[in-house]
Parts: sequence; structure tokens; C-alpha cells
Amino acid sequence: MRLENAVALVTGANGGIGKYYVEALVKFGASRIYAGARNPNSLTDLVAIDPQRIVPVPLDITDEQSVIAAASNYGDVNLLINNAGIGLLQGFISATDLKSARAEIEVNYFGTLAMCRAFAPVLKRNGGGAIVNMLSILAKVNFPMNASYSASKAAALLMTQGVRAELAPQGTLVVGVMPGTVDTEVSRNFPPPKVLPIVVAQEALQAVIDEIEDVYPGEQAKEMAQQLLKDPKALEKAMAMMVPE
Ligand SMILES: NC(=O)c1ccc[n+]([C@@H]2O[C@H](COP(=O)([O-])OP(=O)(O)OC[C@H]3O[C@@H](n4cnc5c(N)ncnc54)[C@H](OP(=O)(O)O)[C@@H]3O)[C@@H](O)[C@H]2O)c1
Repeated sequence: MRLENAVALVTGANGGIGKYYVEALVKFGASRIYAGARNPNSLTDLVAIDPQRIVPVPLDITDEQSVIAAASNYGDVNLLINNAGIGLLQGFISATDLKSARAEIEVNYFGTLAMCRAFAPVLKRNGGGAIVNMLSILAKVNFPMNASYSASKAAALLMTQGVRAELAPQGTLVVGVMPGTVDTEVSRNFPPPKVLPIVVAQEALQAVIDEIEDVYPGEQAKEMAQQLLKDPKALEKAMAMMVPE
């Protein structure tokens, strides 16, 4: 897919990676970028980069009405970037209750799924286009410190595969992006290595151009993906050393 003159919508555009998706889309030549945020006032600085092309839009992906309104108001979208997500750093057993696990599934799985469903007919009308789902390498191996987040991204990975299958006949490319640790506010207490958020955005957009379905931005994710092919149990055991207190 060509990105020159693409019309994109980025969810969570005010976040650590989201704003770099918007910046990268400007550089790749998109003609319009709908920057979605729960609070569009938080997008002022981002819009100032290119007010002709970046349009701030209110969007909460867990609010059905908000999602339906977006699909009806921004009917020219041919590239949907499902970037919004939460990770609440909770274990399965050590968490006080199920609140965090439910919230992560609500945003990372159901919210992303709702966006895919709402925009599928929009993309079809616009020639097929593409969906980019921000997952994580933790969709493929559990990180006990962020255990319920990993499970929500695993659900989103399998959803991504199913959406890909269902949308293939209409020519929609569905890309899953699985970075390791990304250098944003959320991961400030995580040890290195960390991939820069602009690298994540650039590698994901290049995958759209090259029609690559599974992307592992940065060295850490690429190495972990290799380990998962060679010896998944060894990686599971290594991750199991990092349990919450
Ligand atoms: N940082 C990492 O190490 C890392 C690694 C792998 C994958 N990822 C994934 O990359 C994506 C972006 O992460 P990030 O590091 O940029 O995190 P971030 O800085 O916390 O940004 C998350 C964004 O999602 C938005 N959001 C949360 N709930 C939402 C909802 N219900 N509706 C709409 N927007 C919502 C947030 O908006 P508000 O400002 O309104 O809360 C924020 O803009 C996430 O899917 C994350 O899981 C991150």
C-alpha cells in the first residue's frame, strides 16, 4: 500500500508512541491524519506540526457511540492505526482484584476489536486499505510483572489473525506490531534495551508499504521472536524469573 495521500486515523495519538505515528505519517506523505484522543485538547502541540493535515478528533475506543461516530464522521480513512492501549503492571495472582485485568481486556482487546469492526466497511469502500494493530512481543510470551497485559495482547494477537482472515476478501491488509520495550513514559522504570517510539512507527508504516503482516520493531523484539521459534520454553523460563513482589 502506498502512504502518499493516505488518509489515516491513529488512536491514542496523544500517547508516547501515538504522536510518533502521526509525525511519521506526515513524513510518509499522508494527506490527512485524524489524531484520536479521549481529550482532544491534549493534541494542541501535535496538531501544530502540520495543522493542514493533522485533525484532532475525540475518540474513546471503549465507548461504542464514540467508535461508531468516528467511523461515520471520518469515512475517508483508508489506514487505521489501532495504537491506543493500557498496561497496568499487575500479576495474575498478586493483583488485589480483577479490575486491572478487566480494564486491559476492555481497552486492548474489545476496544481494538470495536475499531476494526466499525472501520471494516469504511476501508472496504475506500479500496481495502490497511489496519495496524499495536500489540507487543508479550502477546507471545507472558511477562509475569505485566501478566494480565500480556494476556490482553495475546487475545488481541489472535483477534488480529481472525480479522485478517475475514478482511482478506475485501483486500484489507492487517498488520500486527510486536515491539519489546519502547522508550515511553509507561516504561520509564524498565531496564534497557528500549526501542525508540519513532523507530516503532517507521517500521510499522514500512511494513504497510511492503505488505508484511507481522512486525517486530527493534533488536529486542527481533531477538525474542527468533528465540520463540528456536526454544519457546527457554524464553518462558527466562521471563518467569521476573515475578511481581
Ligand atoms: N511502551 C512500551 O514499552 C510498549 C511496548 C509494546 C507495546 N506497546 C503498546 O503501544 C501502544 C502505545 O503505548 P505507549 O507506550 O505510547 O503508551 P501511552 O503513552 O500510555 O499511550 C497510550 C495511549 O492510549 C490512549 N488510550 C488509553 N485508553 C484509551 C481509550 N479507552 N480510548 C482511546 N485512547 C485510549 C491513551 O490516552 P489517554 O491519554 O487518554 O490515557 C494514550 O494516548 C499501546 O497499545 C501499548 O500497549 C507499548
